[in-house]
Amino acid sequence: MKKILDIITEKMQQAFVDAGYDASFGRVTVSNRPDLCEYQCNGALAAAKQYKCAPIMIANAVVAKLDANDYSMVEAVMPGFINLKLSDSFLQAYLEEMRTAPDFGVEKVGAGQTIVVDYGGANVAKPLHIGHLRPAIIGEALKRLHKFLGYNTIGDVHLGDWGLQMGLIIAELHERQPELPYFDPDFTGEYPAESPFTISELEEIYPTASGKKSDPEFSHKAHQATFELQQGHRGYRAIWNHIMNVSVADLKKNYDNLDVHFEKWLGESDADPYIPAMVEDLKARGIAVQSEGAWVVPVVEEGDRKEMPPMILVKSDGSAIYATTDLATMVQRMQDWAPDKILYVTDKRQNLHFEQVFRAARKAGIVPMDTKLEHVGFGTMNGADGKPFKTRDGGVLRLEQLIADMTDFVRAKVVENRIVSEDEVEETTRKIAMAALKYGDLSNQPTKDYNFDMERFAAFEGNTGPYILYTIVRIKSILARYGAWEHLAIQAPYNTEAKDLMLSVTKFGPAMEMALANEAPNQICAYIYELAGCVNKFYHETPILKEEDEAVKAGHIALIGLAKRILEQCIYILGFQAPEKM
Ligand code: ARG
Repeated sequence: MKKILDIITEKMQQAFVDAGYDASFGRVTVSNRPDLCEYQCNGALAAAKQYKCAPIMIANAVVAKLDANDYSMVEAVMPGFINLKLSDSFLQAYLEEMRTAPDFGVEKVGAGQTIVVDYGGANVAKPLHIGHLRPAIIGEALKRLHKFLGYNTIGDVHLGDWGLQMGLIIAELHERQPELPYFDPDFTGEYPAESPFTISELEEIYPTASGKKSDPEFSHKAHQATFELQQGHRGYRAIWNHIMNVSVADLKKNYDNLDVHFEKWLGESDADPYIPAMVEDLKARGIAVQSEGAWVVPVVEEGDRKEMPPMILVKSDGSAIYATTDLATMVQRMQDWAPDKILYVTDKRQNLHFEQVFRAARKAGIVPMDTKLEHVGFGTMNGADGKPFKTRDGGVLRLEQLIADMTDFVRAKVVENRIVSEDEVEETTRKIAMAALKYGDLSNQPTKDYNFDMERFAAFEGNTGPYILYTIVRIKSILARYGAWEHLAIQAPYNTEAKDLMLSVTKFGPAMEMALANEAPNQICAYIYELAGCVNKFYHETPILKEEDEAVKAGHIALIGLAKRILEQCIYILGFQAPEKM
């Protein structure tokens, strides 16, 4: 479906032409004086300069050419503005089309295009901590938004499953259990199918090993193990497989709890096979140059105002680093999926890293210019006091714990307010807690730091997830009392609140497109907050079920039914769901 702004702009342009002026002056915008009108066109002011006459004359002439049926008000006001209000019949027809069209008639701007969303970024052998909340939920929301707007989407968790962290675990395991067959160079049999450690043991082994990095002897051992693993050491490979199996199962469980789902569980290790050929090629073509024993790709560009160090491709000891893996991952992604866009969702402290990798990828021709590369760098989530989030003993808070804390907080409310029967408490609690957590995060501009404030996020009033759910639940309960409603047609607005609600509904498509263009889930939040506000105003001012005229009542029901479906679509994109009662 065409957007309202486009429809009325086209009509306005035709009116300019019919009045003898150039079409280019007919651009309509949403009014910046909602007290006066809904839409406006300021083109007569610019046209006046070209045609050398009074702007109000032009505005008057254009207004005379507009179709009066489209507007409930259209006026030319001094010095030459054209103010518009849509007619009831225009709105009614537009909403009825939205109601009956698939996906509310949004234009599938991504049709035929593929996007890879690189998000999550978990590291194996390490539990998810609060730093993993933002990449998971921002990435998931952006992926779902792209999918809704027609893109073929591939979400890849890009696991940190390679490099020194693996060597550290192997070295530590060797110190603890040197008798294991993995360490026996003469062992030629089958390694045990069962892992020598559980997930909780692994989560203890890794930090212990990591803490010993400053011990030169241990550090050397870990580096050596990393090197041998990457060279294909059979026993170390087998340990690595155990680490992966144990760890990935646990990560999947945790992401599932967050309702975050990846199409691909690839990792840094999957990029490894692409590295040797890529490095050789970059060396051969002179894209990579030698610098102090290392191989680097210079990425300075003309006009750079900040320092732009070269991207390190191979360190002087011959090893590949984080950037090498990201570049090689691009080789794999281009080869396997030929995406039109790759989106990376990570902490904004990785800005420089991605700038370097993107430039190197362009320079080397790994990613062609018509494939967009974008980095959504997000800010830090701090505690309610604005300071970095820490547990009471100063450690990093596990993501599981954060979710459990929010869930306990919400459960207490649900129980206290006797919202649902006992057997529904958990399900209802889970949905509200997810909404509180995700909306609390996503309603902030991604780049900004924000404070995690459990009480504020979980409040049923204000700009919160639970408030949005509450609005949906309120509509659901009215619809349930009314009966079958899905077939009811939209009617002309019945009062100002109905009209405001209808206008807000029409902004759905433009809001989604804008959120996508800016990679900004917070714009979806802002949209549903406005829409929910309109629903609640309408509800307070209009007796819905008490309406005696059955036809009018059916119109009210159709309108709130459409608003509910749109709210539900939006929260689905944001990654949460509404309960039946609240
Ligand atoms: N595992 C990385 C980390 O913990 C994040 C990975 C982000 N994605 C990427 N393609 N580099 O920082």
